[in-house]
Amino acid sequence: MNQSDILTVGNLNVSYGESKVLFDIEMGVKPGHVVACVGRNGAGKSTLLKSIAGFLKNVSGTIAFDGASLLGMMAYDVAKLGIKYIPQDKKVFSDLTVRENLELGSYATKDYNWEQVTDYFPKLKALMDRKAGFLSGGERQMLMIGRAILGNPKILLIDEPTEGLAPSIVAHLRDVFKELSKKTALVIVEQNLPLVCAISEKIYAIKEGRIVKELVGEKISASICEGYL
Ligand SMILES: Nc1ncnc2c1ncn2[C@@H]1O[C@H](COP(=O)(O)OP(=O)(O)OP(=O)(O)O)[C@@H](O)[C@H]1O
Ligand SMILES: [Mg+2]
Repeated sequence: MNQSDILTVGNLNVSYGESKVLFDIEMGVKPGHVVACVGRNGAGKSTLLKSIAGFLKNVSGTIAFDGASLLGMMAYDVAKLGIKYIPQDKKVFSDLTVRENLELGSYATKDYNWEQVTDYFPKLKALMDRKAGFLSGGERQMLMIGRAILGNPKILLIDEPTEGLAPSIVAHLRDVFKELSKKTALVIVEQNLPLVCAISEKIYAIKEGRIVKELVGEKISASICEGYL
């Protein structure tokens, strides 16, 4: 942890009923940084993001954003602070248009930066009136991220954004993340190690609910991370 971190997590323990999933997690995210969490299936990566975003109840420890405690806060109120969570399943409202889906992301804050969305994802411009149920996997992920950035978030929590996507879309998302991080801190859960190594300032390797390695700056290399996946 560090004074200049915008998001800090300390001694975080999370359970689902009787089953404990996260143990004593400590993490820090600085403004303008990309922080990645890697680990095998079931390691607890999604649980970590969900607990920061306010979706889980059985959470103890500290979660602080910009000095304020998020512990016990409802997801809606966490989002209002500018912490936007992009879940692993690319669930959209199929019967609503792309534009309507995008607008829903800013329901709480009434903050609509359309230019930012279409600058990063020009393709969405042509798809605005299409029902979201007809989108391809890549378009759907653009919609998910577009929905989060429409409201000028301060930090994005993104769960496996490139899962199942073609290399060209992954390359586009990599550039988008790098650019976005200039004004928005990013916490990304990813299995794509070359991608996280290319864009991250810090990588946490999570194994069976515990952080087993923290890699920073020059220490980041795909070969080192591989053992944790
Ligand atoms: N709602 C839930 N109720 C009970 N157990 C859960 C629940 N959600 C997740 N778990 C369990 O918690 C553990 C961590 O799950 P989590 O989804 O956080 O892992 P993950 O690292 O995101 O995995 P993946 O890479 O497959 O997405 C797993 O053992 C999972 O079965
Ligand atoms: Mg997951």
